[in-house]
Amino acid sequence: MKGLVLSGGKGTRLYPITYTRAKQLVPVANKPVLFRVIESIRDADIEEIGIVVGNTAAEIQEVVGDGSRWGVRITYIPQEAPLGLAHAVKISQDFLGDNNFVMFLGDNVIQGGISKLIRDFETNAYNAQVVLKKVSEPQHYGVAELDEHERIRRLVEKPRQPQSDLALVGIYMFDPNIFQAVQAIKPSWRGELEITDAIQWLVENGFDVHPYVHKGWWIDTGKPIDMLEANNRVLLEIVPNVAGYIDRDSDVDARVTIEAGAEVINSVVRGPTIIGSNSRLINAYVGPFTSIYHDCLLENVEIEHSIVMEQCTLKNIPNRIEDSLIGRNVEISHSAIKPRAYKLTIGDNSQLGLL
Ligand code: DAU
Repeated sequence: MKGLVLSGGKGTRLYPITYTRAKQLVPVANKPVLFRVIESIRDADIEEIGIVVGNTAAEIQEVVGDGSRWGVRITYIPQEAPLGLAHAVKISQDFLGDNNFVMFLGDNVIQGGISKLIRDFETNAYNAQVVLKKVSEPQHYGVAELDEHERIRRLVEKPRQPQSDLALVGIYMFDPNIFQAVQAIKPSWRGELEITDAIQWLVENGFDVHPYVHKGWWIDTGKPIDMLEANNRVLLEIVPNVAGYIDRDSDVDARVTIEAGAEVINSVVRGPTIIGSNSRLINAYVGPFTSIYHDCLLENVEIEHSIVMEQCTLKNIPNRIEDSLIGRNVEISHSAIKPRAYKLTIGDNSQLGLL
């Protein structure tokens, strides 16, 4: 069995963060989402992984490398444009050969890993297995309709009027029959070759597509709010560890991880929260569900329920920051220089909620 991770695409719903960074590399609880995907595949004993990459290929290759850090072998598969998930399968045929494979979307985060799913797929003679999850807004996803025997009747990509609340999770298992399906389908109204249509083709042509309904949580990190939600979920699951320094004047609760080289000075930190390596908190309050990545400085600041990426400086801010996604190298500080006004240098498509 091989792994195929999809890490191309544009990530427009995460602008401006994704103007300068691949969305799959946005950290959740201080670890890029893509790393969690690779680890889930490795934990299912799969060592050969192909990563489909688009215009962020260079950044992804630089950060992920050859996979030896995880004990896997990674092959990069360039995709000329984001022409759809089924197009990504098509261009990966040489890499996949006649192996069964698991395809994992590089922006999905799932509770509990995929080892059991892979075992089920390997021990049954299914042609494909899809993972489904009950959601409240199915129109944003591929949707599966099941019949009275819990078999797939129909799959529709982002239907306006969903006939079921079962969304397709971005994890799929296939045998090589999928290559016939991706050749047979036509691009959808949005101009993409949809994997949903390819699986529907398998169903219509008598192949055995098994639906697996996932009971734990699952998040497709398309929008900033999804990133924060994924951050909440993962922070609740990591085992806290203090490897950094906490001074005597600080108050840090038991659900907090402080990475090596981080310093907490005269600050209050309430978990679940993670403070990244070489970051410094001085007279700060960091509240629950916050991830501060590496090499940040937070001084005279209160923040909670947020993700702060690497090398940020947040200083002397009079109001508490909440529900925020802050990109790399950002500086936010209270300015003493008159006039008393917001002085902003922010990128296109930024969102600010001012008091
Ligand atoms: O997350 C689950 C959903 O993923 C499913 O419910 C849908 O059926 C499926 O179509 C897909 O929908 P999205 O609209 O969320 O897909 P998105 O365009 O965000 O792409 C998912 C990942 O695949 C993302 O990491 C980018 C990558 N990708 C996407 C396209 C279209 C590629 O590598 N190449 C592509 O051509």
